[in-house]
Amino acid sequence: MKRFLNCKIDISKKVFAPRPETEFWTKLALKEIKKLKEKKIDVLDIFAGSGAIGIAVLKNVKNTSCDFVDVDRSALSQIRINLKINNIKKRRYRIVKSNLFEEINKNSLYDFILANPPYVALNRLSEVQPNVLKKDPRLALFAGKDGLDYIKRLLNEVKNHLKPKGRIYLEFDPQQKPEIKKISGKEGLNLKFRKDQFGKWRFLIGWK
Ligand SMILES: C[S@@+](CC[C@H](N)C(=O)[O-])C[C@H]1O[C@@H](n2cnc3c(N)ncnc32)[C@H](O)[C@@H]1O
Repeated sequence: MKRFLNCKIDISKKVFAPRPETEFWTKLALKEIKKLKEKKIDVLDIFAGSGAIGIAVLKNVKNTSCDFVDVDRSALSQIRINLKINNIKKRRYRIVKSNLFEEINKNSLYDFILANPPYVALNRLSEVQPNVLKKDPRLALFAGKDGLDYIKRLLNEVKNHLKPKGRIYLEFDPQQKPEIKKISGKEGLNLKFRKDQFGKWRFLIGWK
């Protein structure tokens, strides 16, 4: 059992173990979500894994509902377990098996999209610590030669699912920042890049 903010997260279904860097930006996202004065706030946790990010939102902000998306069946059953452990009511979430947005209704729009996609570059395989390779599923780690396969697809499609004032929080590898800046420019997204608690470029906040 792992702690993620004030949530208990089980990873016994062999899903990706949530990281302190992710916890760091999720905490900042929570602060922003709490500021929204909407009656109901719609959140998407895409590449959800254990569901840690979305569960932290549901547990800490009352008027939120969250869609959890992952392509891996083990992740989906792990999310269900973790929602139960954290006493989240069924009417507040949906769990969707989907390859990115493929199975998400075209009309589904979100106030916040929170994403920690696989982003390890295959050409940096040798730098990945052996215990990470042993524990975390490869599907959760790697994203093509430069690690940008999912980030590119996400940045290409995300505008279709953000409300007019919606925000995306997206985690990446510090080395990917220049390339991501280029891609988002092409996609017409506004961006702020942010560092993690270790002083490394680690996530961005994007909007239309
Ligand atoms: C790095 S893990 C993040 C897990 C969790 N959000 C966290 O931060 O701890 C990435 C997740 O993306 C999922 N994934 C991989 N390819 C996907 C795809 N094409 N569509 C949706 N999810 C995918 C993996 O199964 C894995 O659970």
